[in-house]
Amino acid sequence: MPITTTKMKAVSLCVSLALAGILVGCNQNDSAPLVKDDAYYRGQAEAMVARLTLGEKLDLLSGPGYGSADGAINVKQDVAGVAGYINGVLRSADGIDIPALKLADGPAGLRINANRDGDSASYHATAWPIGTLLASSWDVNLVRSVGAAMGDEMRQYGVDILLAPGMNIQRNPLNGRNFEYYSEDPLLTGKMGAAIVNGVESNGVGTTIKHFFGNNSETNRNQINDIGEPRTFREIYLRGFQIAVDESQPWAVMTSYNKVNGTYVNERKDTVTEVLRGEWQFDGLVMSDWFAGDVANNAYKQVLAGQDLIEPGNVKEQLQQSIDKGDLSEAKVTEAAINILTQVMKSPSYSQLPVGNSPDLAAHATLARQAGAESMVLLRNEASALPLAATSKVASFGINQTNTYKGGTGSGDVNAASLTTIAQGLASRFPVSEALQAYYRDFYENNKVYHEGQFGAKGYYTCAEAAVSPALTSLITAAASEQEVAVISLGRQAGEGADRSSGKGDYLLGDDESALIDAVSSAFHAQGKKVVVVLNVNGVIDTAQWSHKVDAILLAYMAGQETGHAVADVLSGTVNPSGKLAQSFPASYASVPSSGSFPGEDTDGDGEPDDLYYNEGIYVGYRYYSTFEQAVSYPFGFGLSYTSFGYGSPAVTQNTLVSGAAGSLVLTATITNTGAVSGKEAAQVYVSAPEVKLKKPTIELKAFAKTKQLAPGASEQLSFTIPASLLASFDEAGNQWIVEPGNYSAYISPSSDVSATVPVTFTVSKEIVVSHTTAGALALPSGVDAATVTTVTK
Ligand code: BGC
Repeated sequence: MPITTTKMKAVSLCVSLALAGILVGCNQNDSAPLVKDDAYYRGQAEAMVARLTLGEKLDLLSGPGYGSADGAINVKQDVAGVAGYINGVLRSADGIDIPALKLADGPAGLRINANRDGDSASYHATAWPIGTLLASSWDVNLVRSVGAAMGDEMRQYGVDILLAPGMNIQRNPLNGRNFEYYSEDPLLTGKMGAAIVNGVESNGVGTTIKHFFGNNSETNRNQINDIGEPRTFREIYLRGFQIAVDESQPWAVMTSYNKVNGTYVNERKDTVTEVLRGEWQFDGLVMSDWFAGDVANNAYKQVLAGQDLIEPGNVKEQLQQSIDKGDLSEAKVTEAAINILTQVMKSPSYSQLPVGNSPDLAAHATLARQAGAESMVLLRNEASALPLAATSKVASFGINQTNTYKGGTGSGDVNAASLTTIAQGLASRFPVSEALQAYYRDFYENNKVYHEGQFGAKGYYTCAEAAVSPALTSLITAAASEQEVAVISLGRQAGEGADRSSGKGDYLLGDDESALIDAVSSAFHAQGKKVVVVLNVNGVIDTAQWSHKVDAILLAYMAGQETGHAVADVLSGTVNPSGKLAQSFPASYASVPSSGSFPGEDTDGDGEPDDLYYNEGIYVGYRYYSTFEQAVSYPFGFGLSYTSFGYGSPAVTQNTLVSGAAGSLVLTATITNTGAVSGKEAAQVYVSAPEVKLKKPTIELKAFAKTKQLAPGASEQLSFTIPASLLASFDEAGNQWIVEPGNYSAYISPSSDVSATVPVTFTVSKEIVVSHTTAGALALPSGVDAATVTTVTK
């Protein structure tokens, strides 16, 4: 069931309501409840909207345009660098003073300008680990605390609504924006999204879960038409959003650019109104993505579908014309205006709360470093190559140690005050070869390439890997005799507006990178010394072709401004790695089930893909590899530790599924640290369900939990609750979510490789209908046959 809690802190709400003149006599000792629920704000919004003219309501529906606050109505305390505004209303004669709201990106932290014209102060925000890295923590408490700190920076700087978290599914490793998203799995995505939303919104500011839904590639993202079966969309691409709505009721949802089955998502009433608001009972505001869909001609269709706010806007006149022509009713505009104002009234701007402009950036940097280090995934560690002793003499190779990426590009960027590179992080912890670091610094200065920032973000640099030249060869030879261990840092940048390539230098290593691994490995191994690779990447790259050549691989992803320190924390063992993969590392790109369909088919010959078939249906990521027994390089959920863990006494301790849709299952297992150092362990529950009417993946993630830091020998009992709703599969023929009857196996396992895990079992005696759904929602276009769309079947 949806929750209706208001996440604002009681005291700040009290202040805000008092300032807004809504509440008099607000007092912490009052016995009356201090926290109002959404119904309260909706009532206030309805009363206010009844006083507004049609023109004023249209001002609320249409943002003021892109780029600056110039055209925005009633902006108080502007924030430079926000991505958009919700117009306010100012009619002083009648005492109406609704300030504009400020909306800012994004998923890895607050993106606003660090500097303002004529102002010597700076407004930096913390660059947090990217979404994929945060998800790799499998730690909802940690992620919630990151969200709380992001929200604090919003409050400090006067931003009302964050345009994050990004919750699309990592269908294919080449999606340029995968770094903003959490996982290939909807449960992990939904739980992480809810954690960020609940954390951010605990500050009395809002979030926007995005991009709802199907924006799983960037190539021709404004026009691409995702073609798939309703079950595919429901179970994989919508479910994370559904979980986040259910567990965090965010202030806003942003619809995506793409079409689904022939119609822009933002024009789909079945999606925006029937599924989101109806079935899921979302009661916040729905906004468009920036310039999305056919907004230039048919903005009214987005409103008719149930979307409230059009960004960045400038469509007031167009909407007025639609009303004049009878395409749009004032009643529909009023409905949208109420949805918008309900959220506006919760905001700091509405209450004109003063801004502090002094977030505790030092404390947040510490948290960013902790979150980064605790989320990184140790993929390989032969003969305990890691951790390194504090005295280890480190030879650090690779241009990425200097050109370290804190995050991806585009609207998911953050204007942070600083970045600790991997070279700096290593140098602050180990004796490093200064000659090598100087070599890479010089190489970078002479070879870096600047790329203009796009989508409002700053520019950035890339730099090709240094060739294994005679000069570098002599440095390698010297280092192999003088230093004790080699650390090679490899990086990949990507971002909004383009997808990655499956070729060399992107998904595959470039020739110079391969040559570097070969040269360093042979020189160091000849001396009996170890080679460690650090991957500072936006997502999946090939490891199959080279992993056997090195001793250890640390998948650092992009850990934000503290990347270098977090890498050093893990390499040194200050932090025992406990991250686990939120995405499968396939054996090759060709083995990805969507590799044949991504990024779509060009049907009109203009060189851009138009139709993107979701050919693998529900078999995305590990659902595919496990069901069809395909080898992977590293399975979903996998990650090594410097210690080891035992999984004892797995059990189903409660099964109330007999009571139907409200029932649930509780499982427990005792995790014991069986190794020699302290550490945390993320345990996962994969369920194998019977097939009655519906075929299913062999296993699906249904719950997970992480232990606290366990000392050697210490144990913790973890408990996992699986409500019937999360056990259910989508039965398109019956328009319903069902739990099928029969015998189930549940694997409480360290990863999605459950081959060594003995399952616990439970039984469902008869079919449970968890919920009924809208008939025909998201149906394939007429004439398109399911069998030709979904080609991966059991
Ligand atoms: C992106 C959104 C972002 C918006 C505002 C769009 O290009 O797709 O994710 O929130 O711009 O910057």
